[in-house]
Order: sequence, then structure tokens, then C-alpha cells
Amino acid sequence: MEKSYDKLLENNKKWVAEQLAMDPNFFNNLADTQNPAYLWIGCSDSRVPANQITGTKPGDVFVHRNIANMVVHSDMNMLSVLSYAVEVLQVKHIIVCGHYGCGGVLAAMHNKQLGLIDNWLRHLKDVYRINYKELDAIDKIEDRGRRFVELNVIEQVFHLGKTSIVQNAWKRNQNLHLHGWAYDVKDGLIKDLGVNFKNTDDLHSVYHLD
Ligand code: CO
Repeated sequence: MEKSYDKLLENNKKWVAEQLAMDPNFFNNLADTQNPAYLWIGCSDSRVPANQITGTKPGDVFVHRNIANMVVHSDMNMLSVLSYAVEVLQVKHIIVCGHYGCGGVLAAMHNKQLGLIDNWLRHLKDVYRINYKELDAIDKIEDRGRRFVELNVIEQVFHLGKTSIVQNAWKRNQNLHLHGWAYDVKDGLIKDLGVNFKNTDDLHSVYHLD
């Protein structure tokens, strides 16, 4: 009996054949090195695949994903990805991409215990608390959730700017821009939240690292 995951391996062989038909050097060109211009920090949600929704190819985007696209300053996984992307790959843009209807974000709006994940969702509750005046004033729960998604992305972009990794890159005059986006699973469109910034002037001085 064919197992559903066998299909994935078949798809892989088909994909390889298609790439080679278009460009016989496709894999040769990628084998030795990568030179992506973008670091993507997105949600683990299966509906938000970085490459597909941005029309990019293997080699174009360095990717880190976790539940609710968080930048947690004690997360060694995120910090390692960020450090490698900025210091070694020297990406030009870091994009935090949230998505409307994010289960992690919506769960953080409620009080139900979910288990271990509550510890991760706590970071989201902190974002809610920082923005509670704006969020509590939105009557419709769906609209409140959408705005919470956006405010969370904006907060995570600021968290990136607080890291020594990003601040040291700016000090070296490395060309590095931070962006916040929200993807809509309902229509596939990405909204630029307009939080792109490129130096520490945009951060409260308490976060400046000399
Ligand atoms: Co999500």
C-alpha cells in the first residue's frame, strides 16, 4: 500500500527532472555556496511557505520559522540563524512575516491552558499587554486578532534591532534593513507594515549597545 509520504519522494524526483530540464546547471550552481539576500523569520504554519509566496528559488532566502514568527532574545536557535545570516551570509534584508489567522497569536488572546506551548505564548501575551489599549478598543474579535498579528510582527522587528548582532552590523555600516510583513492566508497577499528601519535611532536609547 502506498504511504502518503512516498508521494513526497516521488514528487522530489519529478521536481529534480523539471529543474534540470529548465537549467542543466541548476544544482551545480547551488552546490558550492549560497548567497541569499534575505533572511526570513516566519511562522511554522504550513500555509505560509517563504519561497512559494514570494516567488523565490532555492538559494534566495535563508529561513527561520517558529510558532508565531517570534524573535526571542534568549532563543539560541533564532540567534544562531540571525548571526550566521548577518555576519557570514551578509543578507541585506531581514523580513519578519506574520500571517492573519495565526493560531499562535489567536491562542495568546485567550486564557485556556494548552500545555508546554503556554510558555512560548507568554511572549505573545507580553505583546498584547504592551498594546492592550489599542487592542481592547477593537470590538470585533476577528479584527482584534488581525491587528494583534500586525502589532506582534512590529514588536518582533524591534526585537531584532535590539540584538547586538544587528546593532554591530549597523556599526560596521553593513547595509541591513529590517522589515515587517503580514501575509493573508485568505487571499495570498502580503501587506508591508511599514516598519522598515536601518539604524538604532529608531530604538529607545536604553536598547543602544555601544
Ligand atoms: Co502562525
